[in-house]
Amino acid sequence: MKILVVGGGGREHAIIRKLKESPLCGEIWCAPGNGGISYNAHCKNIKATDLDAMVAFAKEEAFDYAVVAQDDPLALGMVDRLAEIGIPSFGPNAAAARIEASKVFSKDLMRKYHIPTADYAVFDDPAKALAYITEKGEYPTVIKADGLALGKGVLICEDEASARDGLKEIMEDKKFGASGNRVVVEEFLTGPEVSVLSFTDGKVVKPMVSSMDHKRALDGDKGLNTGGMGTVAPNPYYTPEVAQQCMETIFLPTIEAMQREGCPFKGCLYFGLMLTPKGPKVIEYNCRFGDPETQVVLPLLESDLLKIMLSTTNGTLADTEVTFSNGAAACVVMASGGYPEHYEKGKEITGLTEGQISGSPAVVYHAGTALTDGKLVTNGGRVLGVTATGDTLPQALEKAYAACESIHFEGAHKRRDIGQRALKALL
Ligand code: AMP
Ligand code: GLY
Repeated sequence: MKILVVGGGGREHAIIRKLKESPLCGEIWCAPGNGGISYNAHCKNIKATDLDAMVAFAKEEAFDYAVVAQDDPLALGMVDRLAEIGIPSFGPNAAAARIEASKVFSKDLMRKYHIPTADYAVFDDPAKALAYITEKGEYPTVIKADGLALGKGVLICEDEASARDGLKEIMEDKKFGASGNRVVVEEFLTGPEVSVLSFTDGKVVKPMVSSMDHKRALDGDKGLNTGGMGTVAPNPYYTPEVAQQCMETIFLPTIEAMQREGCPFKGCLYFGLMLTPKGPKVIEYNCRFGDPETQVVLPLLESDLLKIMLSTTNGTLADTEVTFSNGAAACVVMASGGYPEHYEKGKEITGLTEGQISGSPAVVYHAGTALTDGKLVTNGGRVLGVTATGDTLPQALEKAYAACESIHFEGAHKRRDIGQRALKALL
């Protein structure tokens, strides 16, 4: 099969490397891709959100299958557009992608179908939102922009003043554009967070191994929120009992709710969960694989990824094997100095041969790299996701951190404590 993967980060790199293990996988392309991905797939520099150009390219190359990995093209209807020209894809159509693209949609869905989540109210008027917050008087309070905001549309406000500033930023200054036309004001929940990615064909749901993200930029969960500085899998808080409870109260009800709303979800549905004292609750849904969760989940997948993906599209997931190894995986992100704020690009990366560390058991997933004049250089905030597997989490972490030592670029920044919280939970 000739395959197109839409996107260009570490997640897409991990998807491509796994797809290539499938005997069904033939020529593979990535658009836009990146420098490191170009060692494993043909790259075509088309923006993931440029639907017209992507569809024209897909038609010209006559792909058999597409994997739309990124949230914004999914929300814009890339899967619908490719279907119109006869190319089936992995991923939800635009109607189903609303589960991530609109917080109001997802919160209303959870309320209607009694899926556990934080209490909330929706506002299109900042004054009314502030009045609601001050009347409640419970801090911290959580304010979320309705639409996609590059993962930055969630504000945790410690007091009235910061809530007022946050509402102004989102709703009046339009920091996230039209995404901030409406906001969800939400109850603050506490407890360990768990990411569970799942495959679904709209009828059946098969969860993948659980994982834990590390969102803040600095050690000890300090600093600004980022796209994710590292991940481990499995997540030790996600015990078999919790998994069972999530299946019954969250996963199956969500799949059924989407069916009943007339927009069955096909693809990868990501459940961002918080294990609160009152049981597991949904913090957010994503309509796609997580990044960098994918970088630890897919290395543990033993079954054929391409077969699974095709089965979600064809509605045959019930009969398709999805098994994971019992081992552990760890991914340490090497980021540009200054990320997630201002950072420079174009720094030469040394220590890699064709994008990988020769002789190392670790795999380097490229998030933000470019090849210029045959040299690999940094080209984004998150640059590399250095990943290793092992029988146990300490083994995986040791291998991943050891591998990081052989990679260098000016200003490189990584967290030193990826997996430490998980290790404590294991004690
Ligand atoms: P999101 O962008 O939706 O993943 O949210 C970013 C982070 O904000 C989550 O990973 C949580 O740590 C935190 N968060 C979101 N909603 C809540 C909530 N209701 N209570 C506590 N923390 C939250
Ligand atoms: N790592 C979180 C996300 O992909 O949204």
